Amino acid sequence: MADRTILVTGGAGFVGSEFVRRAVAAGTRVVTLDALTYAGDRSTLAAIEDSDTHSFVHGSIGDRALVSKLLDDHRPQAIVNFAAESHVDRSIDGPGTFVETNINGVFELLEAARTYMDGGAPANFRFLQVSTDEVYGSVAEGRSHEASPLAPNSPYAASKASADHLVRAYYRTYSLPTLVTRASNNYGPYQFPEKLIPLMILNAVARKPLPVYGDGMQVREWVHVSDHCAAIDTVLSGGELGEIYNIGGGGGAANIDIVRRLCAIVDDLRPDTTTRETLITHVTDRPGHDRRYALDTSKIRDGLGWQPAIGFDEGLAKTVRWYLENERWWRRIQDGSYRGERLGLAALASG
Ligand SMILES: NC(=O)c1ccc[n+]([C@@H]2O[C@H](COP(=O)([O-])OP(=O)(O)OC[C@H]3O[C@@H](n4cnc5c(N)ncnc54)[C@H](O)[C@@H]3O)[C@@H](O)[C@H]2O)c1
Repeated sequence: MADRTILVTGGAGFVGSEFVRRAVAAGTRVVTLDALTYAGDRSTLAAIEDSDTHSFVHGSIGDRALVSKLLDDHRPQAIVNFAAESHVDRSIDGPGTFVETNINGVFELLEAARTYMDGGAPANFRFLQVSTDEVYGSVAEGRSHEASPLAPNSPYAASKASADHLVRAYYRTYSLPTLVTRASNNYGPYQFPEKLIPLMILNAVARKPLPVYGDGMQVREWVHVSDHCAAIDTVLSGGELGEIYNIGGGGGAANIDIVRRLCAIVDDLRPDTTTRETLITHVTDRPGHDRRYALDTSKIRDGLGWQPAIGFDEGLAKTVRWYLENERWWRRIQDGSYRGERLGLAALASG
């Protein structure tokens, strides 16, 4: 482990930063490349900022020359790509950046990886693309397995599916040693407050309306971000090249049920005269909103021995507590000052 170097792209985001923190703590040398879009926040990496086995580079996966230089300079055994535009609502409002980052960006990253491989990358080199269950589209019944057809319904899901196809083609055509993981919805610390679980926690705490799309009966599976990252590590070290691995927590819950559970936890931790459930407000459903995602995860469970360690009830309660205890982190995001802080850092660096 100590001799391992990996390039983690998108490592200042929600899932990527968890992966980076875990990897550095486990003794891996990590180079984080992140474009610091609105969703990237270097404070997610504050715990390892002073580590001499971690370095941060501000830049884009779409910058092939920069990625090639990082590969040549650091000679990593793996690239783990988390970099993406990731919010479905934003992809409906402005799909262009999703095509740019999630398709063109991945193409540039794959090209840099191919050049690196052809130029003598370490023999055990791997390219792991972090993907999503949303590429399968809505499943009325049963579960999506890795060979299920892709039927993405949002620009976000379509851009991620496109990237999966590119990765597959680079394995088949150029023998790039690729792996793809497709995870269900993640939750846990440092999730950007526009996503369902943190949004509902923070609105419930502030006694603001809890906007639920349509009837709230959209069913999702949830996996704790630390279980997701452990699964990625398992696939990276034991996955079969060219293969895809679904990652999910099992079970499934309707969005409205999640919101009610969160209300109950917040009521318990911050008692008030009326329950936060009274704040639930049904709003017009998102266009193309998938009704149900459900993953068959037997391939990673039976084949690689991974299973989630954190049960949903336990994980949800822990997550609510984390947001209550880390108000400073999410206040900076809510009031936008985290971007100003970043500008301050950049000004210092160039000054
Ligand atoms: N969060 C989930 O529930 C979930 C579930 C399954 C899969 N995924 C996948 O995991 C990955 C990470 O998701 P997340 O929730 O952490 O997203 P996020 O939006 O929190 O983080 C994305 C990160 O990528 C960075 N980034 C964006 N464009 C970039 C570029 N061109 N070059 C370099 N960095 C760039 C951002 O600055 C940010 O730090 C995504 O690929 C997503 O599709 C997420």
